[in-house]
Amino acid sequence: MTPADPDHAIRVRHVRKVFGAQTVLDDINLDVKRGETMVIMGGSGSGKSTLLRCVIGSHAINAGSIELLGKTITGMREEQLNEVRKRFGILFQSGALFNSMTIAQNVALPLREHTDLDPEIIDIQVKIKLELVGLREHADKFPAQISGGMKKRAGLARALALDPQILFYDEPSAGLDPVTSAQIDQLIVALSRQLGVTSVVVTHEMDSAFTIADRMAMLDKGRILAVESREWFESLRDLDDEAAASRSESERLIRQFLRGDADGPLTDRRSADGYEIDLFGPKTVGVTTTPSVESTRG
Ligand SMILES: Nc1ncnc2c1ncn2[C@@H]1O[C@H](COP(=O)(O)OP(=O)(O)OP(=O)(O)O)[C@@H](O)[C@H]1O
Ligand SMILES: [Mg+2]
Repeated sequence: MTPADPDHAIRVRHVRKVFGAQTVLDDINLDVKRGETMVIMGGSGSGKSTLLRCVIGSHAINAGSIELLGKTITGMREEQLNEVRKRFGILFQSGALFNSMTIAQNVALPLREHTDLDPEIIDIQVKIKLELVGLREHADKFPAQISGGMKKRAGLARALALDPQILFYDEPSAGLDPVTSAQIDQLIVALSRQLGVTSVVVTHEMDSAFTIADRMAMLDKGRILAVESREWFESLRDLDDEAAASRSESERLIRQFLRGDADGPLTDRRSADGYEIDLFGPKTVGVTTTPSVESTRG
């Protein structure tokens, strides 16, 4: 076992995750330093959300190990895991608020469940968190009475309730207008700068990714293609076609993803392997003439 490492908030080692016959994560290695913002990118179905769920301990993994804040959570019992869970917050795609509770009650919930604080202190804590995300005036509204962007911010206030050291975000700006989505980005950056929170953000919104990331990881079909600095990804994105042509297949694939180009290795691959497998299934592809047919015909 690797010793606890004070420089890293998260260490993911050789993680494999299988659903039925499908290997969704294959030998994933990823370190996130304390205080940094790591953006995880990748196409739909590449395994981003699954990776997040494995890292927070809500999916068991089939191989490898995961360490959060110096503790190996792999194989931990539920009650130990719950102790670790108090030290990180999660912002789900939908905000995941309870509709029967006001915004303030939603934010207060983790404090009521996980602390012995007096109600007056909880009230103050809730106001501070709502102020942080710009929702103090909306504290007494119900989720149905606020917009999608406000729900996201309310979800963030709730994720912040216990002053987490790590925040996980799954598609924080999905479905938001560009201005609201830029506001969420600013919040993520502010939380990291002002509170020193370590952030892991899954997104495929490239503007957002380049605004918030210190480092970025690119997932493709359950494998990590690259974990590099934002600057590295920026310079790959900005290469002209001629310079890009001499790069490796995976770098060209990442470049296409970053630029959102319609043509490139990503789409060539899709059209090459998709249709035949769809028609005949993965096992028969490539076996176009069977030896028995050949031999009987001479
Ligand atoms: N609980 C599950 N049971 C079975 N298969 C699953 C489960 N969760 C995810 N998968 C499969 O794992 C693969 C990766 O899914 P995942 O949700 O991690 O992708 P993603 O990268 O988050 O995609 P998106 O960008 O669309 O959110 C998909 O093929 C999906 O069908
Ligand atoms: Mg997802």
